[in-house]
Amino acid sequence: MVSAQSAVSVIAAKRDGDELSDDQIAWVVDAFTRGEVADYQMAALAMAIVWRGMTRREIATWTRAMIESGRRMDFTDLPRPTVDKHSTGGVGDKITLPLAPVVAACGAAVPQLSGRGLGHTGGTLDKLESIPGWRADVPVERMRAMLTDPSVGAVVCAAGADLAPADKRLYALRDVTGTVESIPLIASSIMSKKIAEGTAALVLDVKVGGGAFMKDADAARDLARTMVELGTDAGVRTVALLTDMDTPLGRTAGNALEVAESVEVLAGGGPADVVELTLTLTREMLAQAGIHDVDPADALADGRAMDRWRAMIAAQGGDPDAPLPRARHTEVITADQSGTLTRLDAMGVGLAAWRLGAGRARQGDPVQFGAGVEMHAKPGESVTAGQPLLTLHTDTPESIPAARDALRGAYVIGAEPGTDTPLVLDRIAP
Ligand code: URA
Repeated sequence: MVSAQSAVSVIAAKRDGDELSDDQIAWVVDAFTRGEVADYQMAALAMAIVWRGMTRREIATWTRAMIESGRRMDFTDLPRPTVDKHSTGGVGDKITLPLAPVVAACGAAVPQLSGRGLGHTGGTLDKLESIPGWRADVPVERMRAMLTDPSVGAVVCAAGADLAPADKRLYALRDVTGTVESIPLIASSIMSKKIAEGTAALVLDVKVGGGAFMKDADAARDLARTMVELGTDAGVRTVALLTDMDTPLGRTAGNALEVAESVEVLAGGGPADVVELTLTLTREMLAQAGIHDVDPADALADGRAMDRWRAMIAAQGGDPDAPLPRARHTEVITADQSGTLTRLDAMGVGLAAWRLGAGRARQGDPVQFGAGVEMHAKPGESVTAGQPLLTLHTDTPESIPAARDALRGAYVIGAEPGTDTPLVLDRIAP
């Protein structure tokens, strides 16, 4: 039995800027998982980490301790290589939806454990749950069966309670104690789950810009490097792309709206930026999986990716042909002048979608599947005065004024064509 004084000494050491030993880290994470270190003590330690940071050794040990707090899945016996993608979160970021079936259609298996949205960024599980019948909980043996099935090959589901349970508890604490924004804590949180899920290779999509956790490219690069090192050291082939999140991805933000847009991409259409990022990330994933000489654009064009999508949705109880939920109310915001749309701020659109009901304020809150924002123009496109610019979708029309507030100043129409920001800003390899 270790006394509470041990927790105090670990907190005080980090508060004073000391480097924690491997033993201190292993003890504190294990004792927290067993309930011996109290939430308030872990919250104090998290705040000390936010302020003092961690060395690479401390981050690696912390990540290992989070993985060891639960089970580590193993898919090494599958008949095809496993590879996953993780995005640090953005607005309109529905890329997993078209990407997982495209990658599966090209010969790799995708074992993706995903999350629900919190705050202004959406969550993949919330999006998929807008498909009637679709279930996020998949037991590990069922995951294995889906990954082995040559007509499926991908599974996107919720992490079981026994996967990095220390991270689950710590993330919930960080969320309510202002301690999310820390590179050591974010990197260890994401990578403990990805390493524990048992993928052999991983491509990280680290978002940069106004709608992302990391507003600044240098901080995003540091986060990406930290995660690539953690993955590589744990034997997971890992690369990261830094991608733009100043502007929302695609033309929709909101659960069912984003599913519909993803299906358009799988049908060979869809917005150019969503198609481009899907194919870029897929090519990185296939390279990490050792699959060459396959063009993922062919799998989108010839319907193979769509077949995988339908099989993947059906395997989790969903009906790929069922109509998607639609919000009961819509309101159109029109352009007040003619010109070029020069800016469409991801944070403004994300906040508006959240306030309309697409996101949740607290874990466990329900989301409105039909709520969100539809964007009729993207930066660089011409608009004429009076044309629809944005459509707001919600079941709760009383939320519309707050959504309009979030969008004030979030779009700019100018005379000059805007400058084109590339979608992929950098690539970080081991
Ligand atoms: N996503 C996670 O899983 N953890 C973090 O700390 C931040 C984003």
